[in-house]
Amino acid sequence: MKIFKIITLFPEFFESPFKTGLLGKAIEKGLCQFQIINLRQWGEGNYRQCDDYPYGGGSGMVLMSGPLFKAIEAHKDNSKVFYPSPSGVLLTQELVKKIAVFDSYCFICGQYEGIDQRVIDRYVDYEISIGDYVLSGGEYATLVMIDAICRYIPGFMSNPDSLAEESFENFLLEYPHYTRPAEIDGLKVPEILLSGNHEKIRTWRLEQSIEKTKAIRPDLYRLYLAKKDEVKQ
Ligand code: 6GU
Repeated sequence: MKIFKIITLFPEFFESPFKTGLLGKAIEKGLCQFQIINLRQWGEGNYRQCDDYPYGGGSGMVLMSGPLFKAIEAHKDNSKVFYPSPSGVLLTQELVKKIAVFDSYCFICGQYEGIDQRVIDRYVDYEISIGDYVLSGGEYATLVMIDAICRYIPGFMSNPDSLAEESFENFLLEYPHYTRPAEIDGLKVPEILLSGNHEKIRTWRLEQSIEKTKAIRPDLYRLYLAKKDEVKQ
């Protein structure tokens, strides 16, 4: 059983994802448990203020250390503390696997320009970015990371084989998929997939993966070539 604690100013953000799809099923099955913590309860003053202007000037607001220290102290116990942030290390499937081993996680969702650096210095074990683009809040990235982690919980996936077959596991993008009907509006499923020749289908799929990766992800393709050479030696 994995436990995820999420410290956020927008608790309602997480309502539907936890009722839906594999994540919803996993909660029903008791594979994981979520605790949404409203940061506002530790806000300061009559308005329960949680953000303030940055020292040194500049645009935007920063989440204050006071409320975050209190929220984290109240819920950290032996959780690993994660801060999704565009300034973190880049999330890859390899990193997902590495962080999927813990039993208890505490995610801090940043807003605006981010959080006071002293929260990171004192508490954060992993500062992670989900890609080179900017989001309006850490909640989006938190959900992405939790979904990616949960896929490694035994019993989460309806077909655990897809963990090994999927993109990035072998530095290749996935081959194209088709299902019924065999033809729609003049568009046909590639003949070979209807042939029943499993060896040929396997080869065709690998070729498709290689061609697609080469065309749109030359960075991944180079890793694939390097790994292939490594296996040969
Ligand atoms: Cl974790 N947060 C925000 N605000 N933007 C991001 C991100 C996180 N990861 C990539 N972009």
